[in-house]
Amino acid sequence: MRDTVILTGIKPTGMPHLGNYLGAIRPALAMAEEENVEARFFIADYHSLNSVRNAGLLRSYTYEVAASWLACGLNPDRVCLYRQSDVPEVFEMATILMAFTAKSLMNRAHAYKAAVSSNRSNNLGDDHGINMGMFTYPVLMAADILLFDTDHVPVGRDQVQHIEMAQDIAGAVNHNYRKNLLVIPKARFNKELMNVPGLDGRKMSKSYNNHIPLFASERLLRKAVMRIVTNSQGVEEPKNPGKCNVFALFRLFAGEAEKRALADRYRRGGLGWGEAKQALFKLLDSKIAPMRARYDELMADTSSMDAILAEGSRRVRLIAADTIRRLKHAIGVGQGGKSRLQPRP
Ligand code: TRP
Repeated sequence: MRDTVILTGIKPTGMPHLGNYLGAIRPALAMAEEENVEARFFIADYHSLNSVRNAGLLRSYTYEVAASWLACGLNPDRVCLYRQSDVPEVFEMATILMAFTAKSLMNRAHAYKAAVSSNRSNNLGDDHGINMGMFTYPVLMAADILLFDTDHVPVGRDQVQHIEMAQDIAGAVNHNYRKNLLVIPKARFNKELMNVPGLDGRKMSKSYNNHIPLFASERLLRKAVMRIVTNSQGVEEPKNPGKCNVFALFRLFAGEAEKRALADRYRRGGLGWGEAKQALFKLLDSKIAPMRARYDELMADTSSMDAILAEGSRRVRLIAADTIRRLKHAIGVGQGGKSRLQPRP
């Protein structure tokens, strides 16, 4: 039996935050360590192009994501780490998949629908500010996935619909040619870590501006933790750890004993919010500091990342080229795998 292929991508739109780390990066790295797993992680820079229109910014966001993966422990010998834009087969795949993607399927995409409904509530035309890259976003994502016979895609809940669309599109191809040309991928996510609370208790998200950047400096990390919203209970009052934004983050990083100890102190009373936040800051900083040091080192000289990304794309392109050859042959496009050079008469 072949190894299980797992693949995931992160769209570079700035430094990942704690929610990305807990909900996506950490579980994906854990899966990559499982036995009989082949892992491919990439930076979806062409997905970012739909919204990031500044060359310098896009380039630096891309490095920030690569450095984050590496600083969080990705082993490039074991996991192929690459830039989406370095693998042109992705875009050939996307063109093939376009022909099998119903426009009506794209009309149902949550991100697209949200953009339309926000246009309507602002009295703008439905299509205002929507480009084709955004409308066809799920097709490019399906190409990312289907190109590598991916079995599992570790993602957050917000991406599940995109995986379902990739399943639909792969199914349409297989059905048309009456053949399992493409592997049907499955989403994999960790329920417990799905809802990482932000500073205000809502889901941590850049769009709510309630996030803690993963590698913020120690000073900024402390500042962010001190901004976490708490209730107005006084120091002496017993507190409910289950209803506290500080504890909600603490428990995601702490071991069992640490968790129990802090929860006890909440219930006993005598623990003020300032002290609780200090405990959270200390815990976070102790986990993040070594990774932050590695991150800063990688960002200070991007040439080592260039080498890793080049090697990653070299390796995945061998697989990608094979899938494209197989597909082109099956759909009757191109020379069907035969040499194009004809012997001279
Ligand atoms: N859409 C994902 C996000 O916004 C990024 C992404 C692009 C991706 N292609 C992918 C994730 C393929 C998993 C598999 O975070």
